[in-house]
Amino acid sequence: MNLIAELESLVEKLKQNLVQAVSLSDLEELRVSFMGRKGQLAGLMSQLKDLAPEERPAFGQKANEIKNALTDMLDRRIEELKAKKEAESLAAFDPSLPGRMPWQGSLHPITMVMEEICAVLEHLGYDVASGPEVETDFYCFEALNFPHDHPARDMQDTLYVSDGIVMRTHTSPMQVRSMLGSKKPPVAVIAPGKVYRRDSDLTHTPMFHQIEGLLVGKNITFTDLRGTLAYLTRCLFGQQTKVRFRPSFFPFTEPSAEVDVSCIMCNGQGHIKGEPCRVCKTTGWLEILGCGMIDPNVFKHVGFDSECTGFAFGMGVERITMLKYGIGDLRMFFENDLRFLQQFV
Ligand code: PHE
Repeated sequence: MNLIAELESLVEKLKQNLVQAVSLSDLEELRVSFMGRKGQLAGLMSQLKDLAPEERPAFGQKANEIKNALTDMLDRRIEELKAKKEAESLAAFDPSLPGRMPWQGSLHPITMVMEEICAVLEHLGYDVASGPEVETDFYCFEALNFPHDHPARDMQDTLYVSDGIVMRTHTSPMQVRSMLGSKKPPVAVIAPGKVYRRDSDLTHTPMFHQIEGLLVGKNITFTDLRGTLAYLTRCLFGQQTKVRFRPSFFPFTEPSAEVDVSCIMCNGQGHIKGEPCRVCKTTGWLEILGCGMIDPNVFKHVGFDSECTGFAFGMGVERITMLKYGIGDLRMFFENDLRFLQQFV
């Protein structure tokens, strides 16, 4: 076969090879094999010098033609493969699929309920205050009229930081701080925050949240306390909620009471469709907070005169949140399981 015929045969050869090329890398291999520096075309070109001088121009012209033809063939096949790939990925794409929602954070249920309670009380005119979680014995106990041998000071309940320094066991030290801070009545303050106790089991955690309320002025009576708490509990649990005050004891209030609301699961019936209510254990009532009229001894500690009267109340936010949302396990608040938290968005 003469050289020109050999050149021409390259076109047919590439044509056959292209049928089998299915990927871009196959094509690259073919390009190198036909048109690379040591490829078949270059091999034939190197024989130019063996030709008679008058044959050379025709051969050179043919070689150029073939080179262009091969390049065109390869380029066309590359375009074909690219278009095929694109069509395939478009076919795999389902435009009717719902989009992926952007990740959105949300408030922790405890924060939500805390903000809700504060909003109700702020609406009534209370200011929000915050204070240290590491407290002195004076604010946490002494000024709140805890006798030195009171069990709440016992190592069992209180986490001691050092002698006379404690992790606050309740938000009631904020009563003392608010009264000392404002110097004279009236004082209307709420204090939400973390409190700590040496307690850990299924229904107790070493840290939990409380909200303290304090109203001090002239002629503040137990009736005002009742009205305020009835209003608050109805805002939280619904207008049909009943409240009940039971006599109790706290060193810093006199008289003291614990407040129950009618059970939100069984509407205070104690039973649901004949079955005993598990939430209130058939009593129809749920305890939600402690309260009372400020003990005159507390006023003495902060230098308020004996004309003053006032009330305070304190509630556990975890407990109220559990009741409000029917959450059965306290530990869920602390596990940060997104499946739980995302239900409160
Ligand atoms: N501090 C009390 C407790 O932690 C609750 C309370 C607050 C009671 C205010 C009376 C007045 O149990």
